[in-house]
Amino acid sequence: MPLRTWALACLAVLTLFVLSEAVKKEDFKTCSQSAFCRRNRALADSVNADAHWTSPYTLVKGSIRFSNNYMTADVQNTQTNNVLVLELQVLVDNTVRVRMDEKSPILPRYRDHEQFTLVDKAKPIKPFQSGKNTDGVVKIALDAERKIVVTPSPLVIEFYVKDEPVITLNDRGFFNFEHLRTKESHKPKMVKQKKEDGTEEEVEAPEEKDLWEETFKTWTDSKPRGPESIGMDISFNGFSHVYGIPEHASTFSLKETRGGEGAYEEPYRLYNADVFEYEMDSPAALYGSVPFMMAHRKNESVGVFWMNPSETWIDIVKTTEQAEGTAVQKVLNLVKPSSNKKSTKTHWISEAGILDIFVFFGPSSKDIFRQYTRLTGQPAMPQNFAIAYHQCRWNYINQNDVHEVDSQFDHHDIPYDVIWLDIEHNDGKRYFTWDSGKFPDPIKMQKELDQKGRKLVTIIDPHIKRDDNYYVCKEAKDKSLFVKQPSGDDYEGWCWPGQSSWVDYTNAESRKWWADKFKLDNYEGSTEALFVWNDMNEPSVFNGPEITMPKDMVHNGGWEHRVLHNVYGQIYHGSTAQGLEQRTNVPKRPFVLSRAFYAGTQRFGSIWTGDNMAQWDALQASMPMILTIGVSGIPFAGADVGGFFNNPSTELLVRWYQAGAFQPFFRAHAHIDTKRREPWLFGDPYTSMIRSVVRERYALLPYWYNTFQEAHETGVPIMRPLMVEYPEDENVFAMEDQYLIGSGILVKPVTEEGATQTNVYFPPSDIWYDLHTHNLVHGQGSQVVSAPLDVVPVFYRGGYIVPRRERLRRSSHAMTLDPFTLVIALDKQGEANGSLYLDDGETYAYAKAEFLKVCIHHCLCTC
Ligand code: NOJ
Repeated sequence: MPLRTWALACLAVLTLFVLSEAVKKEDFKTCSQSAFCRRNRALADSVNADAHWTSPYTLVKGSIRFSNNYMTADVQNTQTNNVLVLELQVLVDNTVRVRMDEKSPILPRYRDHEQFTLVDKAKPIKPFQSGKNTDGVVKIALDAERKIVVTPSPLVIEFYVKDEPVITLNDRGFFNFEHLRTKESHKPKMVKQKKEDGTEEEVEAPEEKDLWEETFKTWTDSKPRGPESIGMDISFNGFSHVYGIPEHASTFSLKETRGGEGAYEEPYRLYNADVFEYEMDSPAALYGSVPFMMAHRKNESVGVFWMNPSETWIDIVKTTEQAEGTAVQKVLNLVKPSSNKKSTKTHWISEAGILDIFVFFGPSSKDIFRQYTRLTGQPAMPQNFAIAYHQCRWNYINQNDVHEVDSQFDHHDIPYDVIWLDIEHNDGKRYFTWDSGKFPDPIKMQKELDQKGRKLVTIIDPHIKRDDNYYVCKEAKDKSLFVKQPSGDDYEGWCWPGQSSWVDYTNAESRKWWADKFKLDNYEGSTEALFVWNDMNEPSVFNGPEITMPKDMVHNGGWEHRVLHNVYGQIYHGSTAQGLEQRTNVPKRPFVLSRAFYAGTQRFGSIWTGDNMAQWDALQASMPMILTIGVSGIPFAGADVGGFFNNPSTELLVRWYQAGAFQPFFRAHAHIDTKRREPWLFGDPYTSMIRSVVRERYALLPYWYNTFQEAHETGVPIMRPLMVEYPEDENVFAMEDQYLIGSGILVKPVTEEGATQTNVYFPPSDIWYDLHTHNLVHGQGSQVVSAPLDVVPVFYRGGYIVPRRERLRRSSHAMTLDPFTLVIALDKQGEANGSLYLDDGETYAYAKAEFLKVCIHHCLCTC
């Protein structure tokens, strides 16, 4: 099949066609060191051990109400008599929301995170049909195929597609909602214990430990509200693969965490944390948290979003059941004896807040990405430059250094768009300032870069040095914008500048004040060519418990840090993005890189996978990590090219550039103690290999931009797992070492030392062409392809048209007016489709229809 390359001179023509030491594990809690996780896991164990267990939660007869858009009912815990309110809403686009909160709490439970997490499209709609039968079973139909069935006693909520329950809540009876209580009113559970002399005594049950105060290492958490956790089991019936819940250095298809061969010993943990030299293949918490999970089987995907920003743990087990069925199926005798069903059963445990679950019916993964981002927001459309190559290290030491590095890129004919300054560029880690000895004229520096179409990024962290002579600190103190201690004084801890305080971004006044700091007049030495890097925003506190802020610190409205920890970094990221957007008369798209993230982060910019190691296994891990982050709504992600800690071998560095050039966020970065590693320092052939792959990134920028626009519109990941494009091919459901960019390019980075060839799986339903030679790939399925060090195996997918630019220049900006080349990779029928999206690359004019999207169709026949 011929592959045609058409160079088109102008768009008008186009329109005719359509250092090292390992992680200190002991710094971070295990589930058994975290009292609420321990309690909920113990409950699951006791349920599993008791064949006669039934969940104590029951719908209260006569309490069920249907309004236009809601079903509400009371739910009673028959052991404690505590009452909850269940609220069920059908939302637009095959989405359902299930909420439960206490009916009459002694104190309100935290709900304010909704404003930071959801955009306002979570509108309920009138269900197709709803009603209750004589057994009290409630049925709410979304349409002819999909319904929700609520069984009253015990409470089980099931989500059906064509008479099969795909998702079941409280299937295994682990649902647990700890009511708020006062310490005085709390009656400890007592159990009998044998004494040495054989007689029995009554003692407090093990779960009574650490309810009102909890100690970890040298820190004591005062827990003024006592126990308030929530646990729920969620079964994905008939699904053996689940994905999501970043951030972990784990596999793309998530592993089991209890029992089972190869299972982790700990649950996956979501608790934003600054983990030094994080471990590979681990469920341990990292910098970001998105409590979203998607399950997939042949041609069907479903998903859940557990909207809760407090510390959360998730256990996963996979079962192959001989016709066991779900709880409700068993009662109704619906289990067919011949069925041999693989399912994934999960158990979600959060420390505080309310139960707030969104269920997505799909039915495809692409539907789920749309359904999830409809709620949590569209991925931001980046500026043109942001998707090009970024050059960073800790630190470019002074203005001369910046100038020199910048010139060397030109000298070596390697394009780049952005140079970054880390924490040493400012005056004593006082953000928004400059070390004037090192950077005497930052405006001149930016102007010089700008003339070549290049940008500068400076780091701005959320810890503010305690120093009354530092205007940022003084203002925040005077306006009372810092997070507080329970005493009402500002919270103080240690970070880069020494003694610091943290701005409370949950306060609207703080957010506005912070955003104003980026006004060009306020941030001295900044120009429109300056963009921002938000680091350490988990928040990282060097002398805090688990290297973060103590949970009993207090935010606006009196809320403890505990209830919102995982969303803190996201709000900060959003305030920074807001600041950049509003600093010009015509708002421009911000570029802000963040390390911490939460659901909704995609609205604000990009993230990276933090402090990785210059090791082959870290390069390998970057792929499942970015794939996982991508399916969880955040498409703009990358990993430090070269590895942050230690010095990569030249081979590793080249291979890392090859991988990074085909990942959405492409930035080289290195620790301050590493050797310099700008691409020209290695000499040929290595410098040429790096040059060639960076230039390939620039050639493909039109395709990348197109794919970013698709992600912006639809939420579909840019770096795309094969299961998204081949939902029926079981060979790819767990595939994580190769992926697609958009729909049209297949990438298999080489991540093994000394490799000269690699195995690539070519999905048989398509034909493929080598990106470098344009030759048709002969053979289908798994094939060995040659991959010497100067080759990264990349392929065009038959049936797709990929726009490129072949005149490579020093920056993406310099290429703005250059012609496009369309690579038309024909499918088996001799046809291909594609698109070319263009806008001004920096403002929001596209939202007012000032863009061009050309749909291109090519066929060999008359069509
Ligand atoms: C930690 C970040 O992860 C790293 O990228 C950065 O260089 C250092 N902080 C110093 O700012």
